[in-house]
Amino acid sequence: MAGGSGTRLSPITKIVNKHFLPVGKYPMIYWSLLKLKEANIENVLLIINQDDRPLYDKLIGDGRELELKVTYKIQDEPLGIAHGVSLAQSFVGNSPFIVLLGDNLFQDSLRKAVNDFDVDPKMGHVFLKKVTNPMAYGIAEIDSKTNKIKAIEEKPANPKSDLCVTGIYLYEASVFRYMKQLVPSNRGELEITDLNNQLIKEGQLGYQMLNGWWIDAGTHESLYYANQLINGDRKEPNHE
Ligand code: G1P
Repeated sequence: MAGGSGTRLSPITKIVNKHFLPVGKYPMIYWSLLKLKEANIENVLLIINQDDRPLYDKLIGDGRELELKVTYKIQDEPLGIAHGVSLAQSFVGNSPFIVLLGDNLFQDSLRKAVNDFDVDPKMGHVFLKKVTNPMAYGIAEIDSKTNKIKAIEEKPANPKSDLCVTGIYLYEASVFRYMKQLVPSNRGELEITDLNNQLIKEGQLGYQMLNGWWIDAGTHESLYYANQLINGDRKEPNHE
């Protein structure tokens, strides 16, 4: 997922999409592509804004240089992550698939989780990370008896935990049927959190913790930290 308006990184995002901004020696979007490659995933669909199409042609093209097969789909309106994912239905077909938010940078390899999901899939699987600013994210509440996710709340005013649902999601193709039931949230978006809550109701959302660092590089401060993390100058992000 590499669209969006990136307003939190304004004014530079008035003229350049945040996924092109440098993190270490690469444009931000490269890090997601490299994570997919590391997990042995070859076929990638980039969901992008129309205006960025020629720039992606120059930067990534069909993905050959990165030894990936990259195709593109335009998300015309800022209708949210779940809407963006629904645009991938024909690309995905009947396969299980992974969704990465292009501004999420992280250390863990996804190879084992992707393999395990292939062998023994639930409808969905998410990756959690402790954060110091839970009001900014989707936050998971864990049932202390069953150890399962009880519910996820998007940007809660009174967070029930500090466990962020990161922008890394594994799904089965069967989830597309739930997309059609989603309604826009207060911010006018089809929320991935609403889809995940639906899967929780079905008893079909697994999770694991991320061990290494993780950061959503969508703000000036976190983009700065992301650069330090990638360069190994900092061990864990600190949002405070
Ligand atoms: C999105 C998701 C949120 C998730 C976050 C991770 O938030 O809606 O659940 O925790 O990404 O980066 P957004 O970046 O749209 O505010």
